[in-house]
Amino acid sequence: MNVFNRVLNNPIVVASGILPPVTKLMRDVCRKYAPGGITTKSMTIEPLQPHQPPTLLQYDHDTYINAIGLGNPGIKTLNKIGCFTIVSIAGNSVDNITLTAREAERIGDAIEINVSSPNRAGYGESLSSHVSKIVKEIKGLVTVPVLVKLGPWENIVDISGKALSAGADGLTLTNTIKGMIIDVHSMKPILSYKTGGISGRALHPIAVRAVYEVYKEYQPVIIGTGGVISWEDAVEFMLAGATLVGIGSGIISKGFDVIRKVNQGIEEYLESKGLKLKDLIGYIVR
Ligand SMILES: Cc1cc2nc3c(=O)[nH]c(=O)nc-3n(C[C@H](O)[C@H](O)[C@H](O)COP(=O)(O)O)c2cc1C
Repeated sequence: MNVFNRVLNNPIVVASGILPPVTKLMRDVCRKYAPGGITTKSMTIEPLQPHQPPTLLQYDHDTYINAIGLGNPGIKTLNKIGCFTIVSIAGNSVDNITLTAREAERIGDAIEINVSSPNRAGYGESLSSHVSKIVKEIKGLVTVPVLVKLGPWENIVDISGKALSAGADGLTLTNTIKGMIIDVHSMKPILSYKTGGISGRALHPIAVRAVYEVYKEYQPVIIGTGGVISWEDAVEFMLAGATLVGIGSGIISKGFDVIRKVNQGIEEYLESKGLKLKDLIGYIVR
């Protein structure tokens, strides 16, 4: 599988926020489960405390809500991991996120700019209106490919266009979508942050729609992410236009072995159809 002038073992990437941001742990996952690549937790230049628990809840079968709030020990704590590594970065201003990008290049084969986390005011989602400026600054600074991670918003085609015109090499679609659950007995929101990001099964068709709409318009490199639990979910993303597929909640729900199972399912599907991986990408748009 060839992407960004690199040969990856397979198209499956561990999504951001699933592996704790600890170099040795990420190295071990790479060695043991051989994903095509891994994405780090979104890292900031300074350490950031997570929100108070509860921060992650299972809502329904394979569907989750989280508001960890980008808590991380700071990007300077990470070292090179050894497999294809996408370093996810976050910040609370254009300058701050650009500073983080400089550090990210030290350890990453690619950088993913998170302008879509719904879980920390001032970070993530609120920076999406500055996407052109952020991408231009970072592209002027680093030589590795730069991806932009967006949420499954109504204006996703428009914002994707802005990111790509500013020079982004690809997009990760999508981040979680903001939601809320309330405990009717205590009559309070269950998450300490009150709202959180919905991931997993419930997000899947929304994310597939987002990939389809953006691919139809621009045909960029897309990491399709949202609710991949089985190989069929991954193939769906590719048919809609994804080159790579991210798995987050699927790992929380089924464990790391889901990576092998999804890859095996894709291989068997391709064999039964007499197709190659690249034949799938954007098939329904042609
Ligand atoms: C516990 C948890 C933490 C996450 N942390 C991040 C993060 O730090 N940065 C980010 O860009 N996305 C983060 N995400 C979003 C995932 O990377 C992914 O985009 C989203 O969950 C949809 O994929 P999934 O349905 O496979 O989980 C997080 C998701 C979960 C469930």
